Amino acid sequence: NWKLTNYIEKTVAEIRETVGDNKVILGLSGGVDSSVAAVLIHKAIGDQLQCIFVDTGLLRKNEDVKVMENYGEHFNMNIKLVDASERFLSKLAGVDDPEQKRKIIGNEFIHVFDEESHKIEGAKFLAQGTIYPDVIESQSVNGPSAVIKSHHNVGGLPEEMEFELLEPLRELFKDEVRKVGEELGIPHHLVHRHPFPGPGLGIRILGAVDAEKVKILQEADDIFIEELYKNDLYEKVSQAFVVLLPVKSVGVMGDERTYEYTAVVRSANTIDFMTATWSRLPYEFLDTVSSRIINEVRGINRVAYDISSKPPATIEWE
Ligand code: XMP
Repeated sequence: NWKLTNYIEKTVAEIRETVGDNKVILGLSGGVDSSVAAVLIHKAIGDQLQCIFVDTGLLRKNEDVKVMENYGEHFNMNIKLVDASERFLSKLAGVDDPEQKRKIIGNEFIHVFDEESHKIEGAKFLAQGTIYPDVIESQSVNGPSAVIKSHHNVGGLPEEMEFELLEPLRELFKDEVRKVGEELGIPHHLVHRHPFPGPGLGIRILGAVDAEKVKILQEADDIFIEELYKNDLYEKVSQAFVVLLPVKSVGVMGDERTYEYTAVVRSANTIDFMTATWSRLPYEFLDTVSSRIINEVRGINRVAYDISSKPPATIEWE
């Protein structure tokens, strides 16, 4: 693709020019935007790029391992893996208010990232995977918080940080970012991942979050996503995940009575994430997902499917 190749060459040249022989740091989340930004910048300046991946303890199953494999090993990028899960979980202990949880996670992320970025000597630039719609959103009259929930983006950092910003994807729409990513050699499935919210599983475990619930949710979510891929449905829906309710109900397993949590399977179709419909997934598929979750995940004995549209519901549950 001539236009893309051109864009990449032009941007690589600009990055080299801007950065010179300075160091750049980047908060890598494993999501599409920060990953494409990272690979693009790495193409331009190689080892002058230092990525920081913060494991909040609220990520999807094996996300840390996958990011290190997909980007650290495959692209040979410098990535510092910071396991901050205990910090996040201890700050969240006993907190059940959704907005409170979001604030705690957002603040803690900034703290951890700030600490880590200062450990990297001589870093002059902070790179971010900001894309064109983010630029527009932050300029709109209502601002990004015209949304009902206080959003935080992994990588969204306080303005007083003393780095110069490097945002090579600022002019691109999401589909263009994906194309650039593929042109750079990032595998198709990675540039077509669904969005994942900054607060992560912290807002998909309703009520208070703890390590045990995280583990349960990770397992259930992983099964759902795996089945979506297997049945060629992943790219037919816009966002899909499992929510863990703090509600136990009675079930039966073999001869035993069980009393365990309820999981909700959520899948939405949307163009702009402002409005959305629930995905009309096939019954047989839902049956497979439900059976697998109940049989394979200890701690869940009931699965429900969310059939709410946005509005009036939102895509996430908190
Ligand atoms: P709602 O639940 O408001 O979500 O319908 C709309 C989209 O936004 C994502 N979302 C977030 N993304 N930080 C993010 O980066 C956040 O705090 C956050 N909250 C919601 C949600 O996953 C959906 O794609």
